[in-house]
Amino acid sequence: MTVLNQSVEGFRSISPAEFFYRNRQMAGFGNPTQSVYSAVRELVENSLDACEDAQRIPQIRIAIDNQSSDILSIKVADNGSGLPYQHVPEAFGRVLYGSKYDQKQKRGTFGLGVTMAVLYGQITTDSSVVVHTQNSSGPGRVYSLLIDVEENMPIIESEREQVRSDDGTTVTIKLRGDLKRARERVVEYIRLTTIASPHAVIELDFGGSEMIKVGGWSKRVPEVPIPSKPHPRSADLEILRRLITKSPSKKLHDFLVDSFQQVGSRTASRFLKFLGLDSSARIESLSRADISRLSTSLQRFDGFGRPDSRCLSPVGEEAFLLSVRSLFSPSWILYSKQKPSEWQGNPFFAEGVIALGSKFPNVDTPTLYRFTNKVPLLYDANDDVMTKIMRRLNWKRYGFSGPLPVALFMHFGSTKVPYRAAGKQSLAHMIEIETAVTGLIRTLGRALRKQAGRRDQSRRDARKMREFSEMFNIIAKYGPALAEAEPPSSTAHMVKTLFEVNTDV
Ligand SMILES: Nc1ncnc2c1ncn2[C@@H]1O[C@H](COP(=O)(O)OP(=O)(O)OP(=O)(O)O)[C@@H](O)[C@H]1O
Ligand SMILES: [Mg+2]
Repeated sequence: MTVLNQSVEGFRSISPAEFFYRNRQMAGFGNPTQSVYSAVRELVENSLDACEDAQRIPQIRIAIDNQSSDILSIKVADNGSGLPYQHVPEAFGRVLYGSKYDQKQKRGTFGLGVTMAVLYGQITTDSSVVVHTQNSSGPGRVYSLLIDVEENMPIIESEREQVRSDDGTTVTIKLRGDLKRARERVVEYIRLTTIASPHAVIELDFGGSEMIKVGGWSKRVPEVPIPSKPHPRSADLEILRRLITKSPSKKLHDFLVDSFQQVGSRTASRFLKFLGLDSSARIESLSRADISRLSTSLQRFDGFGRPDSRCLSPVGEEAFLLSVRSLFSPSWILYSKQKPSEWQGNPFFAEGVIALGSKFPNVDTPTLYRFTNKVPLLYDANDDVMTKIMRRLNWKRYGFSGPLPVALFMHFGSTKVPYRAAGKQSLAHMIEIETAVTGLIRTLGRALRKQAGRRDQSRRDARKMREFSEMFNIIAKYGPALAEAEPPSSTAHMVKTLFEVNTDV
């Protein structure tokens, strides 16, 4: 009996907040340096998403104040959509609660980011988060919130009405952090954020000691992606069961047409033939084995079209080139993209820019800047599939005969980004993504090889011209005396003309 009690004891369940409290390094809050960077990143990401929802040019103000040697106050204010008031306590005080679980590209993914910053602030400084938000429906409210970690529920310390000058949200978090070490990363993060969101204007104020303003490269607000129905190839058993529960009584044919994208009436009939089921079969009569077969067949059938890419939001050629030019003034630059594709039914795209310029370090392989869903990734580069692909290529074949000041900006976007961990710092290995990213890097590499070839050729031409010019000067000096003729006034234009003629041939 005692033995039984001992083995039963010890079993219990913990809340998601408790899990992330114990494993905060998984979400990017492992040490005081990374925590400052992660808190800024999560707040800015949310602000940009909220501005996208509101279809406004983001005006984001970040203020980081050192309250004592290692206690910081981080305040981020935006002009975004604001939050519906009834959701504020849970959005900031409950782990895995959010508004971004639909099928469209967004920076936020898990419903975790800002809550982790709040949780980290609470456990390191015993302070609550202050959220002041205003949306189009009300006069604005200020909340002071804590998290009940064991219950994963918000604790409302105070709540009151307070008007803001404009709609938007201001979030203030106090936390223990190492600003000295994090400072450079934070600045780099903000600068690179404006590469993928060139219309955003971001101000960063380090307690009055330093003020940085970046962005506003473009005046165009990007089109908002449209949420899409799931692609049939993404329908695993769980998705399928949920969809069936939502529409319990229907013909299987109509269920397929209504529930998925890229399935019209004809495609549904062809698919049912492939599956060996009658068009009039009803979903309520499907057995567990039928549903399992249906899921496998949906993933195997090759008659569905490519996923709808309107749920995606690439930076685009014009904006991408503009932002890289604005920040790095390259001497040569090129954009390329791959056709949208899918990984396990999730639409994605890969786009990139390669650039040559004195602001990049001289290196044997290009300096890689990684972006996913318009967010720059600064940590865990070695685990990222983009880094691995780039390192695998032989850059000597792409024009690197020696070190070159070349950078590669890679942007991967999807309705579902396969991150390796909750900290959203590196892209996992998926065969479809690897194929697309490899294709894109090769295309950009080939363009670089051509450019490097042109550069080498013009350097060789310049050297030849110099050598010829020296000899020609000697001939021009002594030749006329031997021939008893008038010496020419200058030979430079003759050499130039000669070489121009030669290069045109
Ligand atoms: N500045 C803001 N403006 C409007 N809504 C916000 C803002 N900050 C947070 N929210 C709301 O709070 C929710 C929770 O934010 P949180 O950062 O925890 O998760 P997320 O952004 O959905 O996903 P992720 O974990 O990837 O960041 C968001 O989904 C959003 O609805
Ligand atoms: Mg977020």
